[in-house]
Amino acid sequence: MTEQIVKDVLSKVTYPGFSKDIVSFGFVKNIKIDGTKVSVDVEVTSAAPEVAEEITVNATGELKAAGASDVTITIKAPVIPRETSSKGKNMAPHVKNFLMVSSGKGGVGKSTTSVNIAIALAKQGLKVGLLDADIYGPNIPRMMGLAGVKPQIEGQKVIPLQAYGVEMMSMGSLMDEGSALIWRGAMIMKAIEQFLRDILWSELDCLVIDMPPGTGDAQLSLAQSVPVTAGITVTTPQMVSLDDSRRSLDMFKKLNIPVAGIVENMSGFIAPDTGVEYDIFGKGTTQPMADEFNTKIIAEIPIEPSIRTGGDEGKPIVFAKPDSESAKRFMAAAASIWAKIEEINAAGGVSNESVQPNTPPGVSACSTAAAAPKAPEADASCGTGCGCH
Ligand SMILES: Nc1ncnc2c1ncn2[C@@H]1O[C@H](COP(=O)(O)OP(=O)(O)OP(=O)(O)O)[C@@H](O)[C@H]1O
Ligand SMILES: [Mg+2]
Repeated sequence: MTEQIVKDVLSKVTYPGFSKDIVSFGFVKNIKIDGTKVSVDVEVTSAAPEVAEEITVNATGELKAAGASDVTITIKAPVIPRETSSKGKNMAPHVKNFLMVSSGKGGVGKSTTSVNIAIALAKQGLKVGLLDADIYGPNIPRMMGLAGVKPQIEGQKVIPLQAYGVEMMSMGSLMDEGSALIWRGAMIMKAIEQFLRDILWSELDCLVIDMPPGTGDAQLSLAQSVPVTAGITVTTPQMVSLDDSRRSLDMFKKLNIPVAGIVENMSGFIAPDTGVEYDIFGKGTTQPMADEFNTKIIAEIPIEPSIRTGGDEGKPIVFAKPDSESAKRFMAAAASIWAKIEEINAAGGVSNESVQPNTPPGVSACSTAAAAPKAPEADASCGTGCGCH
């Protein structure tokens, strides 16, 4: 046995969920050889016990097959910081981090992204919740395979549903299927507050929040109710979608929410028969916008039929087809988001003090501004300190 042989042998061991091996990732450290006895440290980016287990079993098997008599694999997993340093108003103080998933335009894949990122974060060993804040068009229950499932009530509070290792709550789980409510500004605010205060979320590391499209009362209410740790914007590569996405990124800026990145969805098409990737809407158009807002593209997700069927059948691709290209890209995006959240907390966290309304409790500052005759374009500020314009 030599160090080179050990490296060659371990390059057959892929990192769980990825096609790349642990040597190429640079995770193999501190190789020690004593005759046919081998000991190796493997540094992994996930704190999930299954990841450590799979690498240990596979690495030991490969080394023994190559002639090692005694193999010691020491997994060095990161310790997940379970704290937040954020300040300001927090209606769900037992939730450590909040991730807002937003887009300027409807139908670009926000809910799909929210579901898959939430499951990907949970697969990394984090305790994750998924809040469907799209009260007009709640799609998350179906996408999580929980359509028609009613939550249990405990006292005045609601116990979130569970699927794929993620806690979930949605207006769709509380209302009868297919029924519609007409929402006014103040009602939206109340609904968002109740989702945060009256749902029995566990001590979550991260609550992923799927927003309705646009930059309205729901976004503002959320930012005022909890210190949102980070936001991501989902866009498609067409110019018309990018125009709307700029508004979404600008909203994050006005609400003092750090941006963890942009997901370019429907970025090319992977043919299921050949695996060949085709450009449909024009890939790569998002980069200048990312540069403009000093952020980065954290995933380019192709159009893949199994993403759509996964959504319709309640079997999200990250769970149902973890080896698919899209699942791997969602996993990498989730790792990048979590790295950013850790960075934000290490730098002192966020505060939502500056976006608190000057209006009386229960009245949305944005709703009052909308009722005023002044056109928002005419004045960059509605004067209420709401931070929405
Ligand atoms: N990359 C993709 N490949 C194939 N289908 C996709 C992809 N992304 C999203 N879809 C499908 O497109 C449809 C719209 O996606 P989704 O509901 O996630 O968008 P949204 O932005 O949340 O929409 P809304 O604004 O209405 O809330 C869904 O049927 C979803 O399964
Ligand atoms: Mg949606």
